[in-house]
Amino acid sequence: MNSIRTILTSSLLLLTATTVSAWSGQIKVSTPHMAMYLHAHEGEDLRLDYMGATSASSLELEESGDALQAAAIPAFGTADMTWLPALQVEHANGDLNLELVVDKVSTSSDANSKTTIITMKDKLQPFTLRIFYKAFQNADVIETWTEISHHEKGAVRLRRYDSGHIVIPQGDVWLTHLHGTWSAEMMPVNERLAPGITEIKNTDGTRNAHLDAPEIMLSLDGEPNEHTGRAIGAALCWGGNYDIRVSTMENKMHHLYAGIDPQSSQYVLDPGKTFTTPPLALTYSEEGMGGVSRNFHRWARHDGMVHDGTGVRPILLNSWEGIYFDITEERILKMMDDIKSMGGELFVMDDGWFGRKYERNTDNAALGDWVVDTKKLPHGLKALTDGARERGIKFGIWLEPEMTNTKSELFEQHPDWALQVKGRELKKGRGGTQLVLDLTNPKVQDFVYRTIDNLLTANPDIAYIKWDANAPIQNYGSTYEPADRQDNIYVDYHLGLQKVLQRIRKKYPKLIMQDCASGGGRANYGILPYFDEMWVSDNNDPLQRVFIQWGTSYFFPANVMAQHIATSPYYNTGRVTPIKFRCDVAMSGRLGMELQPSKMTEEERRQATTAINDYKALRQTVQQGNRYRLVDPYTHPVAVLMDVDDSRSHAVLFAYRVRYLYNDVVPRVRLQGLDPAASYTLHERDVKDGEKSCSLDGKTFSGRFLMDVGLDIPLQKDYASRVFELTR
Ligand code: DGJ
Repeated sequence: MNSIRTILTSSLLLLTATTVSAWSGQIKVSTPHMAMYLHAHEGEDLRLDYMGATSASSLELEESGDALQAAAIPAFGTADMTWLPALQVEHANGDLNLELVVDKVSTSSDANSKTTIITMKDKLQPFTLRIFYKAFQNADVIETWTEISHHEKGAVRLRRYDSGHIVIPQGDVWLTHLHGTWSAEMMPVNERLAPGITEIKNTDGTRNAHLDAPEIMLSLDGEPNEHTGRAIGAALCWGGNYDIRVSTMENKMHHLYAGIDPQSSQYVLDPGKTFTTPPLALTYSEEGMGGVSRNFHRWARHDGMVHDGTGVRPILLNSWEGIYFDITEERILKMMDDIKSMGGELFVMDDGWFGRKYERNTDNAALGDWVVDTKKLPHGLKALTDGARERGIKFGIWLEPEMTNTKSELFEQHPDWALQVKGRELKKGRGGTQLVLDLTNPKVQDFVYRTIDNLLTANPDIAYIKWDANAPIQNYGSTYEPADRQDNIYVDYHLGLQKVLQRIRKKYPKLIMQDCASGGGRANYGILPYFDEMWVSDNNDPLQRVFIQWGTSYFFPANVMAQHIATSPYYNTGRVTPIKFRCDVAMSGRLGMELQPSKMTEEERRQATTAINDYKALRQTVQQGNRYRLVDPYTHPVAVLMDVDDSRSHAVLFAYRVRYLYNDVVPRVRLQGLDPAASYTLHERDVKDGEKSCSLDGKTFSGRFLMDVGLDIPLQKDYASRVFELTR
């Protein structure tokens, strides 16, 4: 299902809303294992009394005197001024205050969810805030967001417009967030909440998951634990700049605020328009961080947070690290032969295939000139799509649709289409020439849409698009937005991008699309409703990938994580690793390859073929199963994780040696997620050619034994790895 995330519209919400009595006191918003209690009385402020396990009754909360009584959306001017505001506006007449009181409460529902909508009005100004809580019954996730509208005499400036605010009682609470950079994305950071404010934000403009990602966890019972303890997860579903703050003050609460970053984005909202903030997805689990992850994975797959979350993805070869810009028809067709011969199902031609006046032989030219370079591909794309069809595989192609280069026909013809400030020298990105297109401009939106539409109309056999984005917004200015709306650029850029993606998805619902941004720069739930998968990192070194994939899996399901087998030694770390280790690491997500197969040794080819064939038997469970991270490579010399299908009849276990020192202690691995009463037979997969399976192969154990006593997994050397299939 494709969900429309953030929309600027003057229309009313198209839900069949039924007004219910607001005066029944407390409102309970709940999923099977999570509840929020809100106190909504007409004419009073809206309060959040509780968030946590669903077992707490409102009566008990009241009796115990434990209701938190926190403003649900603290607004500047009303809330306790020592709190951070979640909402602050500058009214048309310059008034900076809001005194929001409940006007009415309504609910609506669909097959999987129930939405509670609280409408609040300012006591003085014609200003309305609607707060939404959408509780998913199949995923233990509650999304919250707001709609802001007004009928004042002029525009209102949104100085702060968080999507949500929650409070939890103070205690030994730990924050986990993901920090990183290009080629080292998603490294978990754990810190105990201390008095003060912790802020996590990203100001890149186009991408938002390099450096810090817009998802966090809060462990409520002391240091984060993978398997036990109460934990809250929060993901801001937005592709642009964001601001997440955790504040611990002198009161008895920790406050979590999350929303679009208002720095340089004090959005100007005209009368009669509605601004919808992006959803903040919240989850709660009593199974520690692993439980939070599984809740997010289920919600992502089933509730439209990924374009086709339940699809099983094909095994592919991507041309980038194999041949970079050196594309020729002969090379591409040969690579198709190679991936087909190893059992692959899709070939993706990466960067370098386009350009007319300017050639794309390096990264400094031709973005925006989406015509085939006939020097490289004399028979056009048709020869390639025909070639793929003849070989019985699918064909995919790379584009970077939001960008241009100063050396391009597009920029020569439409210099105003790039974000820029008239009179100021352009700051250029990748290749010393790259610029970001002005997606606030409907003409540019249309150009980007037509780029994809024309390509797919002319080449209906294109089954997959890799959509890249390799530059931040460096020139903060739009020739389209009026002078008094320049504050809207960061936000309108992403609303414009969403409009384009919605049009593409409407016409091409089955197209597989990968979101990529210099690796994992767009690992966020703002963009994923339009994409099927994301490129996890440009770093394909399997050792570092174990760590990057570990962190990414905190929030993203395996079918979304594109993981490729690459060369050894690897170009950016120089590390030499065995082909089996490379295959096993890539197999724990959406398996692919990224190398020149003609340079593979016979041994490498044999192993990759084995891995691909074995993966076909495992991928349903890997891509759609429930993930358990069993042994953490950050604290142990091995990483072990497993995926279990919903019926607990099939499971896959991956074990990787990430450090080998003589006498290092490797823990016995206690499995999870199995049926204790059932028996499981182990089958070792992707066994190295010429070697025997390990002693565990073919043995049968009870689920109880595997979970209570566990297994000693033989991993006795550097880069040793094992893949086991468990069948009930
Ligand atoms: C950055 C991506 O992350 C790479 O995978 C590759 O597609 C290059 N761009 C191509 O320029």
